[in-house]
Amino acid sequence: MSSEPMAPAVAGARRGAPLPQELLDDGERMTREQLRELQLDRLRATLRHAYEHVELYRRKFDEAGLKPDDCRAPEDLSRFPFTTKADLRDTYPFGMFAVPMDQVRRVHASSGTTGRPTVVGYTENDLSMWADVVARSIRAAGGRPGHKVHISYGYGLFTGGLGAHYGAERAGCTVIPASGGMTARQVQIIQDFRPEIIMVTPSYMLTLLDEFERQGVDPRSTSLKVGIFGAEPWTEEMRREIEERLDIHAVDIYGLSEVIGPGVAQECVETKDGLHVWEDHFYPEVVDPITGEALPDGEEGELVFTSLTKEALPIIRYRTRDLTRLLPGTARPAFRRIEKITGRCDDMIILRGVNVFPSQIEEIVLRVPGVAPHFQVQLTRRGRMDHMTVRVEARPGAGPDQREAAAKAIAKGVKDGVGVSVEVAVVDPETLERSLGKLRRVKDLRQE
Ligand code: DLL
Repeated sequence: MSSEPMAPAVAGARRGAPLPQELLDDGERMTREQLRELQLDRLRATLRHAYEHVELYRRKFDEAGLKPDDCRAPEDLSRFPFTTKADLRDTYPFGMFAVPMDQVRRVHASSGTTGRPTVVGYTENDLSMWADVVARSIRAAGGRPGHKVHISYGYGLFTGGLGAHYGAERAGCTVIPASGGMTARQVQIIQDFRPEIIMVTPSYMLTLLDEFERQGVDPRSTSLKVGIFGAEPWTEEMRREIEERLDIHAVDIYGLSEVIGPGVAQECVETKDGLHVWEDHFYPEVVDPITGEALPDGEEGELVFTSLTKEALPIIRYRTRDLTRLLPGTARPAFRRIEKITGRCDDMIILRGVNVFPSQIEEIVLRVPGVAPHFQVQLTRRGRMDHMTVRVEARPGAGPDQREAAAKAIAKGVKDGVGVSVEVAVVDPETLERSLGKLRRVKDLRQE
């Protein structure tokens, strides 16, 4: 077992050691040309499988006047129709499954804030591929066989817990299946079991960090060396905060249930420059969120995925609602990267005509001294005008002057950086809701 990637992060030069060549898997050894050939084969097989076994796809392709074999190059995919969350809801629960139910080994579901949940299914091969891509992600983050992985993503219908679990086992790690909640006990377990790696949402990591401090434990003294954070947007400022307070490498993992779960894309610890998409299994496109037109690499838009190897739920051109751009590969040259996802189309707040993302507020709040990284954005209506209040917690010990200065600095930062006037309320420590998993930053009180 190599101890190199686990060297403590050094402030200012927080990069881990690259994965030794011999630990790359077959997919990671491919050249871009080999990958493109494989993608085309798999794409055509997936289109055929979807067309032959899922009524909804057959109808949509027929309506568009397309047959699976009309896809002769990956670029031809852009002629095929999109799939949306509404398609999955309309066929609830199992209407988009492409295999008989007795071949479906597991289902997961995303809660969804409105209406029916979306249900996804996996064959045995799907589960194995999923474990492979998560194992690959853990290795890219610096995980090695023999490491202990503490998993605080929720276990259950959410894909986070079980997805991370089987991937960590596949990577040869020892799993500590903590799931979400029981925060005080999690901190105890981390101290006693001494894991090298933690997999958790960044917002729940903050909850855990506070609990370390409450228990009088210096978070920098733990055994943790790497955190693999995802399931919600987080910023470079949040990375800095977590890396400094825990003395670990913080890397980003991305995924969504409809495509597989966690493990669609992963940041490499040696570069920390965005997330490599595991393109041998998931074909990415970026499209204009309004017109749906495919955009060239490098341009920002909505991320769209087509699965290349899935059996139970082949997914064609799924609109993720996540905003990013496609960039060339670095640490894994054959695989393109996505820029860190800092917003979803759905999260965008239009405040008096200006687009605001919660991540922009996060960047600003985390740069201001005297306040904690706990904040909430509240939207209310005053007369006919929308009004935004940023509620942010003071750091313990911050006096009235420091609080007032912080409020002013945040309001100025938002005005200068985003272009809107907001009210800032610096509230007492420990008064805002804490995350137990995915955190909802925005409270919209305009309809209430
Ligand atoms: O959140 C899967 C997952 C679990 C990913 C654990 C990473 C770690 P869903 O519940 O279906 O699946 O939610 C998917 O979460 O479309 C994004 O909006 C958001 N999301 C996931 N990862 C990231 C990330 C899981 N690294 C939705 N950065 C996605 C930003 C993310 N947003």
